[in-house]
Amino acid sequence: MVDITTKYLGLKLKSPIIVGSCGLTNSLEDIQHHEANGAGAVVLKSLFEEEIILELEHSKAQMMQHGPLYPEIFDLFDYDTVEDSLSKYIYLIKDCKKNVKIPIIASINCVSADEWINFSKQLEDAGADALELNLFILPSDFTRSAEENERVYFEVIEKVKNTVNIPVALKISYFFSNLGTMIQRLSETGIDGLVLFNRFYNPDFNIDNLTVTAANILSNPSDLPISLRWIAIMAHRVKCDLAASTGVHDGTALIKQLLAGANAVQVVSAIYKNGSEVINEMNKELIEWMDKHHYSKIDEFRGKLAQVKSKNPAEYERAQFMKHFSGKF
Ligand SMILES: Cc1cc2nc3c(=O)[nH]c(=O)nc-3n(C[C@H](O)[C@H](O)[C@H](O)COP(=O)(O)O)c2cc1C
Repeated sequence: MVDITTKYLGLKLKSPIIVGSCGLTNSLEDIQHHEANGAGAVVLKSLFEEEIILELEHSKAQMMQHGPLYPEIFDLFDYDTVEDSLSKYIYLIKDCKKNVKIPIIASINCVSADEWINFSKQLEDAGADALELNLFILPSDFTRSAEENERVYFEVIEKVKNTVNIPVALKISYFFSNLGTMIQRLSETGIDGLVLFNRFYNPDFNIDNLTVTAANILSNPSDLPISLRWIAIMAHRVKCDLAASTGVHDGTALIKQLLAGANAVQVVSAIYKNGSEVINEMNKELIEWMDKHHYSKIDEFRGKLAQVKSKNPAEYERAQFMKHFSGKF
């Protein structure tokens, strides 16, 4: 009998497939559907402080159209709007905890130091099983040094870890100048897990009407190798769990990430493209593969293809095509 349970952030998951944070994880109905299709956990759509601020500004502008207002009214109004967005999120967590059995991981993205603390505490109190910090600083502010940008990650982790008792994961990008060292240092902060890697909204251009549009929003299976390489390089070299994110579209990609050393994978684009049923197919593919290779538990093969176990570690670090593809292929 094949057992596909796994441990991630100290939580026991019935499958290593986690539905990553996205628009398909912000309603109870969708989350129940993912659970019925065999998801091990879900990460809720991020609660964005920036979005709340934008909503606030929009509503204030609308109020101002009706005539001048006393500034004091805005203090109360600001507080109410933030509370309202938080309340909806808290309600979703409570509703999920009543109606689904799989772990619910809340996700936050804040801009101010105080709100990382305020949001974390309230989401823990609402019953979230864990917290995922969605933190990214686009290094486009030329007045800030790399050290200043990097310091923010450590400060936020420290604040949140000092605030909550539930496990905390950090989802990062690969835009660091010294990625391996950064991942290792982050793992030594006491964080429970790192998610490699987030995929971001990217701009594109419309060359007919000269406007800025959204580039490909969903990933493709060909996007897998970046996270696969880094999970394989970092496995057994970090002090926390690793979840693989980006480009996991089928059971084969799931098996590869487990062989690389991931504790779990996060799936988003494949669900947008093929529906929640793809989770079921991926679980089936994993079970069939384990059966064929006589594995009864994931731990029997997890990390078998991690770089530290390889006789040829250079294979994981090759970055130039050199001789290989110099001809036609
Ligand atoms: C439409 C959409 C919305 C997303 N929203 C969030 C979000 O709110 N918070 C977050 O951390 N990641 C968000 N992501 C990123 C995904 O969680 C995931 O990391 C990324 O899509 C890569 O995984 P994939 O290749 O399986 O799509 C979003 C992705 C998509 C496509």
